[in-house]
Amino acid sequence: MKSFLKIFTIFTPSELRRCAIIVAAMVVGAMLEAVGIGAILPLISLMGQPDFLERHAEIQSYAAGMGIEGHRDLIMAGALALIFLYAIKNLYMAWQTKLQIDFSLRYQVYFSGQLMANYLSKPYMFHLNHNTATLLRNVNSGGQVAFSTILIPTFMLLTELITAGTIWLMLVFVDAFTAIVVAGLMAALIYALLKSFRRKIAEAGRVQNEYAAVYIKWLNQGLGAIKETKVMRRERFFLEEFLESYTFYGNANRKFLFLNQLPRMIIETLVVCALLLMIVVKLSLGTAPGDIVPLLGVLALAAFRLMPSANRIVNLANGIKFQMPLFEELYREFLAIKSRAVHRRELKLAADSGKLSFQRELSVENLGFAYPGREEIVLKEVSFHVPKGAFVGIVGPSGAGKTTFVDILLGLLRPAKGRILVDGVDVWQDIRAWQANIAYVPQTIYLIDGTIRENIALGMRPEDIDDDKVRRVLKMAELHDFVAAQPEGINAMVGERGVRLSGGQRQRIGIARALYQEPEVLILDEATSSLDSATEESITHTILKLKGEITILSIAHRVSTLAECDFKVKFAEGEAMLLEPMDKK
Ligand SMILES: Nc1ncnc2c1ncn2[C@@H]1O[C@H](COP(=O)(O)OP(=O)(O)OP(=O)(O)O)[C@@H](O)[C@H]1O
Ligand SMILES: [Mg+2]
Repeated sequence: MKSFLKIFTIFTPSELRRCAIIVAAMVVGAMLEAVGIGAILPLISLMGQPDFLERHAEIQSYAAGMGIEGHRDLIMAGALALIFLYAIKNLYMAWQTKLQIDFSLRYQVYFSGQLMANYLSKPYMFHLNHNTATLLRNVNSGGQVAFSTILIPTFMLLTELITAGTIWLMLVFVDAFTAIVVAGLMAALIYALLKSFRRKIAEAGRVQNEYAAVYIKWLNQGLGAIKETKVMRRERFFLEEFLESYTFYGNANRKFLFLNQLPRMIIETLVVCALLLMIVVKLSLGTAPGDIVPLLGVLALAAFRLMPSANRIVNLANGIKFQMPLFEELYREFLAIKSRAVHRRELKLAADSGKLSFQRELSVENLGFAYPGREEIVLKEVSFHVPKGAFVGIVGPSGAGKTTFVDILLGLLRPAKGRILVDGVDVWQDIRAWQANIAYVPQTIYLIDGTIRENIALGMRPEDIDDDKVRRVLKMAELHDFVAAQPEGINAMVGERGVRLSGGQRQRIGIARALYQEPEVLILDEATSSLDSATEESITHTILKLKGEITILSIAHRVSTLAECDFKVKFAEGEAMLLEPMDKK
């Protein structure tokens, strides 16, 4: 029971008040339903009693006061009253359903949005250690699980308990002893059913949650690596991996769906058996059949009224149990969302801080870094300083830690030791203000499925994009001829991850994207490695014109790329050495 109430701990007080209103509305709704069902029977029985008014003088005089004369009028009035009752009841039910759906869907959207915001704001290291498939699953189903498959069923469970309690109370008035016996038996039955299925359902829930992430991963990987898959003829492998995890997922759901149907049959069988056995026992003890009828009538009534309720209680409780694993996994995130809402704190997502002033010098002091969980120390001791406006070449063998160093310089990774100072100020004092200075061309460019223009001004709304600037940077990145040849020009679509572009074109879009930001510091990680030497030379020439104004750090393996640099920083075995280019030659 405790775990069922856990869902309410993720709400702020004002949200809890809304929950209370919804539960209250649901209870009223359940009572109206009960009245609605109950009201048909008296009308039918009234139709079979033509002498009803004659037998009930007080009702007759009261009815006469309202203009109801005779049996026919009475039935017509009763029917009209019922029409009214049903209309009101269903209007109410529509309102209550809307209230419930609005609440859960609004919060589902809100929580999924908050989860997405949360993941966007997490440090880069978090993303290095988490598969996107898991994050996809969480954002996709996190809000849905919490609200549509846990919160609403919990509401329904509470209402069901209240409705069953109400029916039971009515029975107490009719026949207290039977009511207590029946309730005791039902409670024991519900308890036994919940207890005996609990472990299996919890296990199925765990499996379905785990494999939901795994099958999404295989889906991503199989379709994401479609070219390699096709060339290596590994379609079957990816299909099998996908099917294997999806089968685990499907089997867990299958098990749950079946287990959740069983209680209905078990409850019905046990209740009918109990009633019939009682008749057999009574008869064998010598009770006359006629004497059993009154007791049996009440018992049967109680049992058949409470049976559906018992079944729903078991079903809802099991359903919640089944969905619990993802909720438990995300519980801390939910609490964090609540705490942000209570304290009116926002996640830092916007480019809100100003720019860190960079006028004189960039210095790197005793930088050290190792990836958590890996013994290898990637950077042992990196120290150098360069003046603003320098063109710095970063060289060293593959795996020497060049990209890792750049990730630290970008503020994506936090160094284990050492500092990066800009004009003497530690960039970690306000990393976002430092980042505001930088544009970066990574080793592999990620292109969004949009137009060339949207890719260059990445993250800007189409209406905010400065087309003249786009054209200017396209020219600088040697892309103007290519774009001019497109019928749609800068509005040509690049395809998912830029599949419609060549490797070199993708790289040049990356360069244009970095130049569009008009940075103070430009960091290039093998940014021209896919280009032919003529194009590379031309782009390097353009970038070199920026030298002096902006500081450029460029990682390159090719000697020609860095021919014109002012300094070289050579990475080897975790250490870096600053070389004047003439030393290098
Ligand atoms: N996320 C990570 N987790 C653990 N180890 C990593 C991670 N990323 C890189 N490494 C390791 O850190 C070392 C340095 O990698 P890095 O990418 O910085 O090399 P690099 O100098 O850029 O090489 P290249 O010239 O091939 O791009 C490598 O041994 C690599 O295996
Ligand atoms: Mg690298």
